[in-house]
Amino acid sequence: MNTFDTATWFAYLACAVCFVIGLHLMNAPHTARRGNLLSAGAMAVAVCTAVARAARAGGTGTVVWILLAAGIAVGSAAGVVLARRVRMTAMPQLVSLFNAVGGGAALLISLTQALTVRGTGLPARVSAPLVLGLAIGSVTLSGSLVAAGKLQGLVSGAPVRVPGRRALGAVSLLAALGTAVWFVADPGDDVSVFVLLVVALAYGLLLALPIGGADMPVVISLLNAFTGLAVAMAGLVVDDLVLIIAGALVGAAGSILTGLMAKAMNRSVGAIVAGGFGTSGGTGPSGPAAGRPVHVTEADDAAVQLAYAHKVVIVPGYGLAVAHAEHEVAALARFLGERGIDVAFAIHPVAGRMPGHMNVLLAEANVPYEQFIDMDQANSRFAQTDVALVVGANDVTNPAARRPGTAISGMPILDVDAAKSVVVIKRSLGHGYAGIDNDLFTNPRTSMFFADAKAGLTALLGSVRTLVG
Ligand code: TAP
Repeated sequence: MNTFDTATWFAYLACAVCFVIGLHLMNAPHTARRGNLLSAGAMAVAVCTAVARAARAGGTGTVVWILLAAGIAVGSAAGVVLARRVRMTAMPQLVSLFNAVGGGAALLISLTQALTVRGTGLPARVSAPLVLGLAIGSVTLSGSLVAAGKLQGLVSGAPVRVPGRRALGAVSLLAALGTAVWFVADPGDDVSVFVLLVVALAYGLLLALPIGGADMPVVISLLNAFTGLAVAMAGLVVDDLVLIIAGALVGAAGSILTGLMAKAMNRSVGAIVAGGFGTSGGTGPSGPAAGRPVHVTEADDAAVQLAYAHKVVIVPGYGLAVAHAEHEVAALARFLGERGIDVAFAIHPVAGRMPGHMNVLLAEANVPYEQFIDMDQANSRFAQTDVALVVGANDVTNPAARRPGTAISGMPILDVDAAKSVVVIKRSLGHGYAGIDNDLFTNPRTSMFFADAKAGLTALLGSVRTLVG
């Protein structure tokens, strides 16, 4: 190995170490920004190193260099614009789109390699990752595009019932396996490549279309893990160390997250891949739609409950993010805390629209991390809680999850209905992401404070201040 090769391998190694450290720094909100910068910086160095290696190797024509430069310029510009413009609430769609881009890139690398090795005796150590990269990349591309479309409202968010979905899924998987073996046995045959491509793209559609209700978060994180795996396979095909390491890291992190989310949602990853979740309909109207009475309250009445409480648990949800009311809820919690009231924030693992959504939101408003409690801690605390204040949350508090046959059946929820009283701030009796009625709103202990979260919290804090300030 000459000096140039040694230097570039060390550069790659340093990048890989930075990726791992960056990932570790993302563990805590106060170090996450640094972790992100470190990983992004390492990726920039890795790209420059790859370009330097390609230039040194020679044989790359002017057209290819122009295409490369154009790709980097367009990709970087799109990344900067998207990152600056995207609203926090639209982050899951963006993550899905990034998954699609990652999967698509891995698919293109594998496809190009597959089509250029025509007739050559490709060893199985290359052809095996090649078909895996092609198959996983294709599933990720089509599945992530559907997921992004659903989250953006371009495709119906409701489960799309494909007749014979399970049978079709099983046939696609078997067909993909068969064509993969066919390609490994005869890498010179283009037909197997295109059959595998079509079957895997179709499987991605079958995977994402039926997902609805509360299962989308698990699927997004599963597709994220697939992206990492596809990229690692592409790395093995073109013998690129950084692709292998970065892909393996994303694959491992995504798999761990998928496992955690599936556990939190009481779902099995295998069943989701087989296409069995998120497809159950409701059991007909219950709660508000069944015509039960709803107790409506105003800021002054809710303030009385809060001001004379000993223990308050605040349950933030997607509506808090939509209303950008994190600073108002933090101010209310601070004021109550200064009055000697024990205040905690109960964080459901899939509250909001992305993993950690509520943690990030509240951390930005400087809510102390010690005030965050997870679902298990919260559920053991609600029975001793005077007021559970639900702000813009819906599905994560819906007791319908305890009944069979609803779109969220089996999902563990925050048992706010165990608290002595519940105040819900939202604009209407409207549904959450899962699209079903919430029995909590007609619970005799619940008072509905119909308001935008930001305006409602401001009014509530004003009333509490007037009462006890
Ligand atoms: P949701 O069940 O989606 O409910 C949010 C509620 O916020 C809505 O019912 C809406 O009611 C209210 N809202 C909207 N704008 C508001 C505003 N300006 N002020 C006050 N309230 C407002 O939220 P959740 O309880 O956080 O549950 C999350 C759901 O999203 C789960 O079903 C989960 O599976 C799904 N999901 C989660 C993720 C991740 S990873 N977290 C990703 C994708 C999907 P009004 O219209 O009546 O105000």
